[in-house]
Amino acid sequence: MKLPDMNEARLRNNQNIDFLYLDKIEYSGLYNGKKYYLRTYGCQMNVHDSEELKYLVESLGFSETKVMKDADLIILNTCAIRENSHDKVFGFLGRCKHLKEKNKDLIICLAGCMPQERSVIDTILEKYRYIDIVIGTHNKHELRSMLIERKSGLNINVLSNSNEVIENINYKHDSKVTAWVNIMYGCDKFCTYCIVPYTRGKQRSRKHEDILKEIDELIDLGYQEITLLGQNVNAYGKDLEGEIEFSQLLEMVSKTNIPRIRFVTSHPWDFTDEMIEVISKNKNIMPYIHLPVQSGSDRILKLMGRRYTKEKYLELFNKIKMKIPNVSITTDIIVGFPNETDEDFKHTLDIVDECKFDGAYTFIYSPRENTPAAKMEDNISLEVKQERLQQLNEKVNEYSLLNNKKYLDKEIDVLILEVNSKDKTKYMGYTETMKVVNVTGDDIKIGQIIKVLILSAKSFSLDGKKVN
Ligand code: 5AD
Ligand code: SF4
Repeated sequence: MKLPDMNEARLRNNQNIDFLYLDKIEYSGLYNGKKYYLRTYGCQMNVHDSEELKYLVESLGFSETKVMKDADLIILNTCAIRENSHDKVFGFLGRCKHLKEKNKDLIICLAGCMPQERSVIDTILEKYRYIDIVIGTHNKHELRSMLIERKSGLNINVLSNSNEVIENINYKHDSKVTAWVNIMYGCDKFCTYCIVPYTRGKQRSRKHEDILKEIDELIDLGYQEITLLGQNVNAYGKDLEGEIEFSQLLEMVSKTNIPRIRFVTSHPWDFTDEMIEVISKNKNIMPYIHLPVQSGSDRILKLMGRRYTKEKYLELFNKIKMKIPNVSITTDIIVGFPNETDEDFKHTLDIVDECKFDGAYTFIYSPRENTPAAKMEDNISLEVKQERLQQLNEKVNEYSLLNNKKYLDKEIDVLILEVNSKDKTKYMGYTETMKVVNVTGDDIKIGQIIKVLILSAKSFSLDGKKVN
């Protein structure tokens, strides 16, 4: 058994990154006819990791089922960012117990960020010993060998940290139109509330040659859009001696001529003028930026370790708005951080008024194991946190609607991703600015970029019809 240690996870060393190029995976029919059920919690990184896990288990003969009780293998790809994601997973695991009692051969696997936390491992050892495989974020590719050499009982294989970048990863992509491309792993920012630097380890950038090779392969497969993925994409390259920086990577990716390029998530600290320049002059880099602000109070930003003030954020925000025409900007905001006063919260409402974000993901602060903020007293009552969240959400939704209304009666480019899941007569696509559009019309094809006339606008989506 390999168990994680959160103190070790905190360590950053100066060791060089090892690039591990995996061998080609040979198909094996070991689990032919067996079914797997996979559930993903959390961020885009996890969604993309699940695409890898799917490839790995399908290379052993498993096929996917959406019905949990039909599965021979259940995989939970978990998130650790807030306590409520833990509660969901433990609740789910509780429900798996009776399936395991009925079917002794059922394999239950816990993957993703939760296993990186020591307290989670301790809970599993105490209460959930019927789980078969626990695997962390750093060595998830070993799930395949663990399934091949299956040992009975609970097997835990979690590394505390990693100096490796793993290459030649295969994915079973969820979409044939748009794909994720990791450009870096981990995070070195250590915002005081955040568990990611512990669960995902130190920042490790991929070599730009390997990223571009992957993108070329996706273009050959017909992909129309890629999203460059990292906890802190615009810190790309800082950890690799002699590597280019993010703005240069963006420029190189732009030259591949793939129709649409996106990137998440940017940290205001690393947002350079060169980036703004490259985004504004290259038409295939989408005018959409997710730029978490977290709070509008300088005092709280300092306690959060965010390394900018409200004024600096606004300066950057306004520069981006000025230089990139029609850009849309979304953000993340936390309410109820330790010691957040009514006045601090008012500053958060004020910055939302000033920025009028296109959208915001809003969260109630959740203390995370071993983070510096968890040592501060969590002294805001749940009632106050919920009130602030509600007040904030009302404001955020107002501005989303206001921004979306600007699209009314305009003809805009929409990349069609799929048939609308609720209404099969409609299609679902995205504008360049990342607005969801429900589209009607004849002869619409998935993967096409079409002109759509916007007929109505809601807070979270637009409706329109194809222009012939
Ligand atoms: N509590 C609440 N929200 C958090 N986030 C990260 N850590 C926490 C936490 N401990 C939010 C931040 C981040 C987003 C991905 O999740 O807003 O940008
Ligand atoms: Fe967490 Fe901050 Fe890193 Fe984002 S930048 S992953 S909030 S530590």
